[in-house]
Amino acid sequence: MIHIQEVTKKFQDKKKSVTALKHVSFTVKEGQVVGLLGENGAGKTTLLRSIATLLTPTDGSIEVAGFDTVRKPDEIKKRIGVLFGGETGLYDRLTARENLMYFASLYGLSKHETKVRIDDLALKFGMRDYLDRKVSGFSKGMRQKVAIARTLIHNPEIILFDEPTTGLDITSSNVFRQLVHQLKREGKTILFSSHIMEEVAMLCDSVAMIHKGELVCHEDLEMLYTLEGSRDLNYIFMSKLVRGGSSYAS
Ligand SMILES: Nc1ncnc2c1ncn2[C@@H]1O[C@H](COP(=O)(O)OP(=O)(O)OP(=O)(O)O)[C@@H](O)[C@H]1O
Ligand SMILES: [Mg+2]
Repeated sequence: MIHIQEVTKKFQDKKKSVTALKHVSFTVKEGQVVGLLGENGAGKTTLLRSIATLLTPTDGSIEVAGFDTVRKPDEIKKRIGVLFGGETGLYDRLTARENLMYFASLYGLSKHETKVRIDDLALKFGMRDYLDRKVSGFSKGMRQKVAIARTLIHNPEIILFDEPTTGLDITSSNVFRQLVHQLKREGKTILFSSHIMEEVAMLCDSVAMIHKGELVCHEDLEMLYTLEGSRDLNYIFMSKLVRGGSSYAS
C-alpha cells in the first residue's frame, strides 16, 4: 500500500521557489494498478521520486508498505522496484545478464535465486537471445526491457514506473503491457505515470490526475466513466484540467 498524505514539495531554484506538489493526498491499495496522469511539469516524477524515498517532502508524509519514506527508507527500498523514464541505470560495458546479476547482488539474492529470477525474466521479456551480449550495442527497446527486468529482479511487492513505454515501439510497449497484467495477477501494487491514455485505460484499476502540483482526480476508472458520462479518458482528462483543483473535493 502507498499512503500519500498532504504532500507538498518545494524546490529552491536559485532565488525562486517552485512548488511541484501541493497538498497531495491519495492511497494506492495493495494489488491495485494506478495510472498517474498530468501534463509536462505537473509533478508526476516528483511524486514518484518522493514515494521511492529519493526526495523528501517539504510537508506531509508518505507511507509505503507501512513504512515512512523519511524515517525508514531502507525498509522501503527492499520492497519497491523503481524505473524512471530515460534512466535505465544499466552498465554499458556489461552484458544484460551481468547487469542483472549485479543488481541481484545489491539486493542480496543468492546465486540460485539470481539464476532463477534471470531465467524467468529473460523468458518473460523474450531476452534470451541477447542476454549475454553487451548492453552498449542494444537498441532502446532492448535496453528498456533489461531495465524493467532490473527493476523486478528482487521480486518487489510495489512497483513504480515513470513513463515506462515512452520511446518504445508497439511490440515493446505490448510486452510491457502484458507484463503489467501478469504482475497484477501476482498481486503486485503498481503506480505508473504515462501520457498515453489508451495505455492507462487498458491497464489501470484507477487513475490519479495531477495538475500544476495539485491532485484534481483520484477515482476508480469505471466509476470515473460513470460519473463523467463518457469512456473517453482523454476527454475526461482535459475537462478535469479545465475544472482544476478547486472542484475536487474528496
Ligand atoms: N530538482 C529540481 N529543481 C527545481 N525544480 C524542479 C526540480 N525537479 C522538478 N522541478 C520542478 O517541479 C515541477 C514538476 O516537475 P516534474 O518533473 O515532477 O513534472 P512531470 O509531471 O514529471 O513532467 P513530465 O511529464 O514533463 O515528465 C516542474 O515545475 C519542475 O520544473
Ligand atoms: Mg516526469
